[in-house]
Amino acid sequence: MSALDSKVVDIHTHMYPPAYVELLESRKTIPLIRRFAGAKDPRYIILPAEAEALDKIVSSESDKLPANLPGRPITTHYSSLAQKIHFMDTHGIDISVISLANPWLDFVASEVAGETAKSINSAFSEMCGNVPGRLFFFATLPLTAPPETLLAAIGHIKGLKYCRGVILGTTGLGKGLDDAALVPVFRALAANKLTIFLHPHYGLPSEVWGPRATEEYGHVLPLALGFPMETTIAVARMYMAGVFDAVPDLRMLLAHSGGTLPFLAGRIESCIVHDGHLVREGKVGPARRTIWQVLKEQVYLDAVIYSDVGLKAAIDASGVDRLMFGTDHPFFPPLNSDEQGEWESMTWNKEAVSKALGADSEGAKAVMGGNAVEVLNLHEET
Ligand code: URA
Ligand code: ZN
Repeated sequence: MSALDSKVVDIHTHMYPPAYVELLESRKTIPLIRRFAGAKDPRYIILPAEAEALDKIVSSESDKLPANLPGRPITTHYSSLAQKIHFMDTHGIDISVISLANPWLDFVASEVAGETAKSINSAFSEMCGNVPGRLFFFATLPLTAPPETLLAAIGHIKGLKYCRGVILGTTGLGKGLDDAALVPVFRALAANKLTIFLHPHYGLPSEVWGPRATEEYGHVLPLALGFPMETTIAVARMYMAGVFDAVPDLRMLLAHSGGTLPFLAGRIESCIVHDGHLVREGKVGPARRTIWQVLKEQVYLDAVIYSDVGLKAAIDASGVDRLMFGTDHPFFPPLNSDEQGEWESMTWNKEAVSKALGADSEGAKAVMGGNAVEVLNLHEET
């Protein structure tokens, strides 16, 4: 085993370069960054429920700020390279594969999307170049741009030394990831060995959380349940549309251990083989690759699931060589201890790996970093 195989690698960790922060500060509708007089940090407001809370403050006559400001505080953890390195050093993380966080460039006007992506990706490239060997990145695609600009963006990022793939949401070009118009994009990514890091943002429609959620349940339901269901549905749609067969070299790393896919794959299989319509159309023949096969051949899962129970399901579904450790930094900061100290996102996820596989076992080392080094080619800077 080489020294790199026992490195700790965080493949799920976000950064907001200053250009992205400025873009969000200039906006009047979500996503936006808003400063409130008297509040220490600006607030980052992205979810529809948070926008409702913001509207209430804006339309209120009172000068007094409510105790619960909408969104999350945007601290130096979001955009400072020194802070990212401090987080890594505090937690024994050797290498981080950073990515822009949701909702990426989904809201950017078509005519400026290409240039915006270029400047964001160049900023990521520069950050990585400032600390050689410590950082690599997943680039951002200008999905709202015309098709030729989108394909040109893949040409740009493939030449960036530290780029190892792209972070992608579930909306694609507006119709989801089972849209046939995305197949050329998937082919271009696969041909350039750029792994897709699939990450949720939109969750499920607000109504499913019921009338009490906004006031009483904080962000728990959309983040804990909406995000994973969104990922599950997006990948199930790709599978049903035959995208994995159409682009056999496509490699996808799924956030939050694949949502609920490891748990629900059996049910998806059962529903397929019992679907009269699919059977009559000849789509359930012996040549069909099962979702289990796709999970073992084209999918990687992060280990951001905070418990050995979910992690074991993910390992069973995809294989111990396909799981990769992550923290989701700078989200979920500690609320009752120093933000410069230890974060539970590290300790809970690391403990889950130790519990599921045995502390210091070969499997644990693979999940903590060895797999990422191999799969994302972190041996090389070229
Ligand atoms: N909340 C988000 O909006 N994004 C993340 O990545 C994690 C939490
Ligand atoms: Zn994340």
